[in-house]
Amino acid sequence: HGTIQVGELAKEMGVKAADVIRKFMEMGTMVTINQSIDAETAAIVASEFGYEVEAATVEEEALLEYVPPSPEELKPRPPIVTVMGHVDHGKTTLLDAIRHTDVAAREAGGITQHIGAYKVRLPDGREITFIDTPGHEAFTSMRARGAQVTDLVILVVAADDGVMDQTREAIDHARAAGVPIVVAINKIDKPDANPERVKSELAELGLVPEDWGGETLMAEVSAKKRQGIEDLLELVLLQAEMLDLKAAPDRPARGRIIESRLDKGKGPVATVIVQEGTLREGDPFVAGMTFGRVRAMLNERGERLKEAPPATPVEVLGFEEVPQAGDDFIVMPDETAARRVAEYRQRKAREAEAAREARLSLERVFEKL
Ligand code: GTP
Ligand code: MG
Repeated sequence: HGTIQVGELAKEMGVKAADVIRKFMEMGTMVTINQSIDAETAAIVASEFGYEVEAATVEEEALLEYVPPSPEELKPRPPIVTVMGHVDHGKTTLLDAIRHTDVAAREAGGITQHIGAYKVRLPDGREITFIDTPGHEAFTSMRARGAQVTDLVILVVAADDGVMDQTREAIDHARAAGVPIVVAINKIDKPDANPERVKSELAELGLVPEDWGGETLMAEVSAKKRQGIEDLLELVLLQAEMLDLKAAPDRPARGRIIESRLDKGKGPVATVIVQEGTLREGDPFVAGMTFGRVRAMLNERGERLKEAPPATPVEVLGFEEVPQAGDDFIVMPDETAARRVAEYRQRKAREAEAAREARLSLERVFEKL
């Protein structure tokens, strides 16, 4: 089977458990005698003692094995765009203008409380997926977990206010993530709007507009008056084209959890952004340390979807437990496999936690052994 206890491993090799534990420490890991380790790690440690153990693949790991798509499988997909910018510079209003809806007016206190994610279809059929974030936390925490979902950032800068702290932060985040920035200079309807000043402030930060000989695409818009929106979307699609975004639609879906909650009526629900493959009703899945089966999929308007191709955000019902934002979401062959992987991950997390707790008393454990 897939794991072995440290004590068992020592016994198999005919060495003292304390020596095995010490070896782990030398390798930078704290373990206890009763701790289960995976076969791969066991093989590495065993080789340190001169044993060549064939590393049996952990079955659960094998279930998660990922074969990247071949070039023939890849099809163009819509860009996933995150709107960032300083507080009150008009991110939500801009997305409203794009969607022709009115979320901002309905928000409590006018502050974005959660991530909204939706796919917009332009009159010519092209699509863009948007993510509206509260501040930068979602973006940052996901990047910290190595879970990048954004292809490009729309940086909203109010023309009457100019570059502010969170504008600079957003630029830093986008740069650290290697994500291109398209600038929306907003609120140009205001009497004190000064787009030229915004441009020079941005140029100082290295975002030089195209008409000044730079490379940064910028549009002047009024989200409120719905002016310049088509131009902005055109720039977004232009920038996206340069990225040549593709994904394989004809395989089991993989994606990321971008928000989650426990709904009184629906139970655990999460917004999943599909990054590869096509998600369908009935699909069994693992998500972080939980699992489930897609009972229903809804778009941001609450409409039921039968399938979700790459770059589609959907609210998924059918989780055992509430997953965490940033968790992966992987469709599995069947529910038994999904449950096994989730339980395997839970076990590993518990062991990691136990190892942390054991750390302080480890020195004493040593003396006893
Ligand atoms: P947070 O989510 O709190 O960070 O704010 P936000 O960036 O989403 O800003 P929001 O869209 O809530 O807009 C803030 C205020 O600016 C609201 O009162 C909007 O009506 C106003 N506003 C947004 N865009 C424009 C615009 O183009 N022109 C004018 N005059 N006002 C705008
Ligand atoms: Mg907002």
